[in-house]
Amino acid sequence: MSTSETFTYADQTVRRLGYGAMGLTGEGVWGYPKDRAGCLNVLRRAVELGVDFIDTADSYGPYVSEELIAEALHPYGHVRIATKAGLLRTGPNKWIACGRPDYLRQECEMSLRRLGQESLDLFQLHRVDDDVPADEQFGLLRALLDEGKVRAVGLSNVTVDQLVAARAVVPVVTVQNRYNATDRHSETVLDYCEAQGIGFIPWYPVASGSLARSGGGLDELARDHGVTVAQLSIAWLLARSPVMLPIPGTSQVAHLEENCAAAKVTLDRATYEAIDGLTA
Ligand SMILES: NC(=O)c1ccc[n+]([C@@H]2O[C@H](COP(=O)([O-])OP(=O)(O)OC[C@H]3O[C@@H](n4cnc5c(N)ncnc54)[C@H](OP(=O)(O)O)[C@@H]3O)[C@@H](O)[C@H]2O)c1
Repeated sequence: MSTSETFTYADQTVRRLGYGAMGLTGEGVWGYPKDRAGCLNVLRRAVELGVDFIDTADSYGPYVSEELIAEALHPYGHVRIATKAGLLRTGPNKWIACGRPDYLRQECEMSLRRLGQESLDLFQLHRVDDDVPADEQFGLLRALLDEGKVRAVGLSNVTVDQLVAARAVVPVVTVQNRYNATDRHSETVLDYCEAQGIGFIPWYPVASGSLARSGGGLDELARDHGVTVAQLSIAWLLARSPVMLPIPGTSQVAHLEENCAAAKVTLDRATYEAIDGLTA
């Protein structure tokens, strides 16, 4: 089981428990949050608690999440901001892939402007656009890296085949796919990342569904250990692989504090295996 507190990608070392800033927006990840001041507090509190890796995207809001991060935390010091591009937003809960190189370049430029950076710490392709040749999308990432517009490149929502194809064009340091104790569809991608030393950023890290509900398998284990389901989910992820970099998101300080405390939860092997063996 993995116990390392940090993960290093490119020239950046971060603590393995980050923060996801998607929820600092309005309903449907659209527009401004109702409690803007509260969201700014969450960001500042995250850094106080030791978080030094914050995940966002141009499409969260759109633009709102990046704007709030800049307002709360610029200049960022040792904190790394990982953003993404590659999705159009046409309304609440609407996400449309757009991997045209000129669009990805525009969004990189606009993230630089909003975040107030000369080079983005980590620029992730949000999703490969099936309507644009993949090599054109990967080639643009390579160009941005070569030009110094971005310091490192990541992918999101990819298969192993897409990851291998991308790596033939550009160094890929992280992959961000949906993964948690009750959703292991990306297990082969995680295994590939671990073998290659690529960071794996599981989105939707807090397990849900029947196992996490009151009386479910995960809930029972959490009660036995005096922790919450969210904490147990995060602790299991951290133990699962040394390349795992969870980014639980929340718009509430109380949930943030609860999630960050999960880094201190030590799982014994029997509990780790019990969670590993749970199937929905
Ligand atoms: N690459 C992708 O395609 C993709 C897709 C989705 C997300 N992401 C990234 O991954 C991050 C995490 O994703 P996510 O799917 O978990 O979305 P998220 O928007 O960050 O949401 C987490 C949800 O869980 C709740 N929550 C958080 N901590 C909790 C706790 N301790 N107890 C109870 N509820 C809690 C939050 O509610 P409260 O606000 O009320 O706490 C919120 O509704 C996002 O912020 C984003 O950065 C990436």
